[in-house]
Amino acid sequence: MSQNTQKNWFILGNNPELSAAEISAVLNLDKFEKKDFQPPLLVVEKKFDAKELIKKLGGTIKITEEIGENKNQQELVSLIINDLKKQNGKIHFGLSDYSFKSSENLYRLKKIGLAIKKELKQLGLSVRFAFNNEQILSSVSVDKNDLIKKGGEYIYIWKPSGFSVAKTVAVQPFESFGSRDFGRPGRDSLSGMLPPKLALIMLNLAKSTPSDTLLDPFCGSGTIINEAIALGIKNIIGTDNSERAIKDTQQNVEWLKSQSIIKDQLSTFDSFVSPVENLSNHLKKNSIDKIITEPYLGKPLKGNEKYETLVHQANDLKILYLQAFTEFKKILKPGGTVVFIIPCFKQGNNWIRIGLENELLKIGFKSNPLLKLNDKEYGYFLYARPDQKVGREIWKFVNLDK
Ligand SMILES: C[S@@+](CC[C@H](N)C(=O)[O-])C[C@H]1O[C@@H](n2cnc3c(N)ncnc32)[C@H](O)[C@@H]1O
Repeated sequence: MSQNTQKNWFILGNNPELSAAEISAVLNLDKFEKKDFQPPLLVVEKKFDAKELIKKLGGTIKITEEIGENKNQQELVSLIINDLKKQNGKIHFGLSDYSFKSSENLYRLKKIGLAIKKELKQLGLSVRFAFNNEQILSSVSVDKNDLIKKGGEYIYIWKPSGFSVAKTVAVQPFESFGSRDFGRPGRDSLSGMLPPKLALIMLNLAKSTPSDTLLDPFCGSGTIINEAIALGIKNIIGTDNSERAIKDTQQNVEWLKSQSIIKDQLSTFDSFVSPVENLSNHLKKNSIDKIITEPYLGKPLKGNEKYETLVHQANDLKILYLQAFTEFKKILKPGGTVVFIIPCFKQGNNWIRIGLENELLKIGFKSNPLLKLNDKEYGYFLYARPDQKVGREIWKFVNLDK
């Protein structure tokens, strides 16, 4: 198989559409075929450095390379054995079956694993089968067992035409995400903190590059800013109307700079207190490339609020957001991008939404589709756990000035 036609399977996170949108933005892929998007799998044929790429993505758990298609069970076993035989020293391997979850599939996985182990032992090789009584190995297990270096994790799915199989080449660096999430000193759980992975996805949806000047005008404790620094963006500005938020952000940036992973990437970092409504008093016209932000989402909800209360809150926020975009228009470069979270509020089984698209068009911003699957375009994605009262819609808008 030539490198150009290498098929890669991306194992996507909890929001597979959003993860696919992120990959489409980062790899500059205009659209995906529906047949290639079978959550949690996305098949991508493109050349890239998987070990570098996985560090930049917030929504991908594993990147794998396809090594076989349409195999029967014996062929699958032989294929894996032949691949593992190339390994020097003690072999460590694991299996994950991404077909639907069932006790039969788990039983089959164990049987396949033991067959591989037995045959390799008969060849006189020392071998360990990493098996946790689970159909899918977590990225933590793949990493802790050092499978990529010492043998491999083989991922397969069964279809009526046979097994397709891939080998994991990179897993999400969960430890650095965890430490950026829980290690930072400035935390404000009351205002709410964005999950760092979502912050990274938002930066990627905007196609942020190191030379961009990036602004988060509701920076809170600086989750987006820290992810932007980790991504290598060099010029960053954080503003917020709360002094406490700016202090938290500054403390978190200092903390991140003290970590060995990022050394001298950041050129300029500026942060100051400003209500979003006054931003253009502080920042120059046409000076910002990207605005990535999670704005004020309204008062925390108990879940028993009346419909009218939620509609009232939605209307108040709409006014704030339109004021914010009026300011963004002044400071953003022509063609500049805004990735923005618009909250929605759960009422029974429905979401009360804040429609902004038409008004934003009048201000001069157009919504930009995040994902194309065949001919279907997705303008936004809802990010919400089932128990959450406030959902987050992720949107991308482009400044229509050319
Ligand atoms: C949801 S929090 C952002 C959290 C942030 N993404 C993080 O992960 O830490 C919203 C922030 O908006 C700020 N805020 C509220 N109203 C504002 C306004 N009118 N102008 C600027 N900032 C405002 C709040 O102080 C708060 O820090």
